[in-house]
Amino acid sequence: MKKPRILVGATSIVFFIIIWKLYGIESVSGVEELKQELEYQENINRFPLSLERIVNPVTIYCVTPTYWRLVQKAELIQVLQTLTLASFKVNIKWIVIEDSEQKTSLVTNLLKRIDDAGDSRLSYVHLNAKTPPFQQLKAKDPRWKKHRGVEQRNAALKWIRENIKPHGSKKIIFFMDDDNTYDVRLFEEIAKVDKVGVWPVGLVGGLNLETPIVDPKTGEVLKFKSGWQSKRVFSLDMAAFGINIELILNKTITVFSYRSEVGYLENDFLSELIEKRQLEPLANNCTKVYVWHTRTMNPEALKKIELHDEE
Ligand code: UGA
Ligand code: MN
Repeated sequence: MKKPRILVGATSIVFFIIIWKLYGIESVSGVEELKQELEYQENINRFPLSLERIVNPVTIYCVTPTYWRLVQKAELIQVLQTLTLASFKVNIKWIVIEDSEQKTSLVTNLLKRIDDAGDSRLSYVHLNAKTPPFQQLKAKDPRWKKHRGVEQRNAALKWIRENIKPHGSKKIIFFMDDDNTYDVRLFEEIAKVDKVGVWPVGLVGGLNLETPIVDPKTGEVLKFKSGWQSKRVFSLDMAAFGINIELILNKTITVFSYRSEVGYLENDFLSELIEKRQLEPLANNCTKVYVWHTRTMNPEALKKIELHDEE
């Protein structure tokens, strides 16, 4: 009689162990699944490309000078696609100003895609303004020798002053060069600008990033960490700030100037609009990098193959 009892006991123990193990495995994988699900949910909420549309009454006027070179179309397509995504979060008006005597079919056709998409949250203005020959970089000049994009940004400022009435819904201007790399999150930050907002820029001035330095107590911008011309009051790259258009409309003669010293283009422009202590640090108190001053190498010699491309 004893043997079967031991057998039953042993079998039950084994049975319990198996159940316990199975339950253990199940609960571990259950926990894993739950964790993954939570992470997934969190990522959806954080994901900048989420297709959830946010109704934001702000419009960002993105001002992009551009000029013909082999990489132009590639650069502009990246900007166009960034702005398409950004327009899910905030209204975007893209002001594209060609550095040319006439508007080109390359840019015209690219902008037609915005018409075809037919979404009012992304619209554009197409202008052209040629840089005068004496301000044009020569082939062998180092790129810092002359200011770039001056004529074109000033044409955009003129358009804004002629076409925008003051006191409407909030409008912010952002000087968005065609060759930088932009995180879509940047546009949600720009939408927060009251007067002039500032944020870090990656890969610029010989540094991995340039940034405003914020006083942790007062939240004021004290100074800037930048790689060069550090005597500037505003040691900022063009991609590091957004300005409320009201300021531009109030200061009717403020423009970019060829007369600015090398590296002082942004400084001289901002100095006429605002004081340093009034700057609004954005991108999580200037702790996040959402834009990089990247440069695309221009391919020198390319063999040309005919393709039925529209441009
Ligand atoms: C840096 C800043 O990022 C520029 O915003 C600033 O204008 C420039 O310095 C300066 O100090 O002048 P960087 O990368 O050296 O820029 O300049 P580019 O990217 O070559 O040019 C800035 C913008 O002007 C671009 O959108 C570019 O397409 C346009 N550009 C450049 C022209 O329209 N015409 C040109 O001949 C050259
Ligand atoms: Mn550039």
